Amino acid sequence: MSHGPPIRRLSDWPAERLLALADRHGTPLYVLDLERVRENGSRLQSAFPDAHCSYAVKANSTRAVLETIHASGLDAECASAGETQRALEAGFPGDRIRYTAVNPPAADLDQIASLAADQEFTVTFGAVDTLDRLLDRGFAGSVCVRVNPGVGAGHHEKVRTGDAPQFGVPFDRVPALCARIRDREPTLALAGLHAHAGSGISGDGLEAHRALVEGLASLAGEIGGLSFVSVGGGFGVPYRPSEPPLDLDAVAETTRDAFGDCDAQLAIEPGRYLLADAGVLLTDVTTVKRTPDTTVVGVDAGMTTLARPALYDAHHELRLLNASDESRPSINCLVAGPICETADVLGRDRTLPKPECNETIAVGNAGAYGYEMASQYNSRPRPAVVSIEGTTLVRRETVADCTRLEHSIATTNR
Ligand code: LLP
Repeated sequence: MSHGPPIRRLSDWPAERLLALADRHGTPLYVLDLERVRENGSRLQSAFPDAHCSYAVKANSTRAVLETIHASGLDAECASAGETQRALEAGFPGDRIRYTAVNPPAADLDQIASLAADQEFTVTFGAVDTLDRLLDRGFAGSVCVRVNPGVGAGHHEKVRTGDAPQFGVPFDRVPALCARIRDREPTLALAGLHAHAGSGISGDGLEAHRALVEGLASLAGEIGGLSFVSVGGGFGVPYRPSEPPLDLDAVAETTRDAFGDCDAQLAIEPGRYLLADAGVLLTDVTTVKRTPDTTVVGVDAGMTTLARPALYDAHHELRLLNASDESRPSINCLVAGPICETADVLGRDRTLPKPECNETIAVGNAGAYGYEMASQYNSRPRPAVVSIEGTTLVRRETVADCTRLEHSIATTNR
């Protein structure tokens, strides 16, 4: 299996093909290249040959993605009962699934306890209450303790988890908790430890990653007899053309070095790294408006389609597919969506060949946390997702999909 290049840039996507897809399926439209997901999986596995690799389903839980990941030999790390159910439905057997509970709603634990009666998956929890609540529901099975490592990293403060108190059990309380779990054998089996520093770690965040791995490895040594230690996900991807790709081999070497002679199996659980550059979002130009400061390019995808710019000021590369940089004069522009909120901007201060209405802009690195975080705000049905070959993976919603759960309370005009 080819690993492909370390990053697929927006300029590498074939414009003609994307334009044909936009034409056939309409916009906004997510396009996924599942072959690229396979390449990313294979590159990851070859950089971490001895590690257990799981995919963080929250990055993109589309059925076809889960099937592709499963066929590539990775396991699934799920953030909710819903994701766990979807992973099972996509073919992951229970013993290839880890559910990570964060302040889990009762309904999640009900479902997990009932699924665990027939499936052997592992539950990771980060608060003693969660364990008690699972036991109250008759849960028996394999558990993993989420540790708060006290070090965080990531592309934005909102996705740094390692030093945020809501995630994980404080370091110094972990040994006593593990002893308590072992007192409940064979109902409970203590399988491992887990920590996650944050999402979108670049070369700069490697020291935090190293500290996390060292801390977990030493804790695992103290506790002893664990099958695995998961050091989380978070491997970043370059969103700007000027950024180099993450040096995965350097990350793997730092990880191995910090893991030392820990006798548990090393485990990792990235999401973004596998999906980000395997997807683009296509959006049509609806408006080109000159203002004193800039040209506003209105497009039909907004914060409801791709939330990351509004939520994290995230940068996504933009490319006009109908013209090359050389063939048309460029303009400085603000690319904004159809929502009446100032946050609804896909890109500020961008340089693009001057677009015309009905032309199509591609948004790069949209495969992770793109469709997954889309909403129906403003009664905007969520877009379709298609494969680069043209197969519909998720059909476009209609307004009827937005209203189908509602009940009218009108008593007249029936
Ligand atoms: N494991 C755990 C326990 C996590 O909470 C996460 C992500 C991952 C693994 C995978 O992280 P990744 O490899 O994808 O960075 N919506 C945000 C990202 C939130 C990530 C939350 N946790 C964004 O669009 O940047």
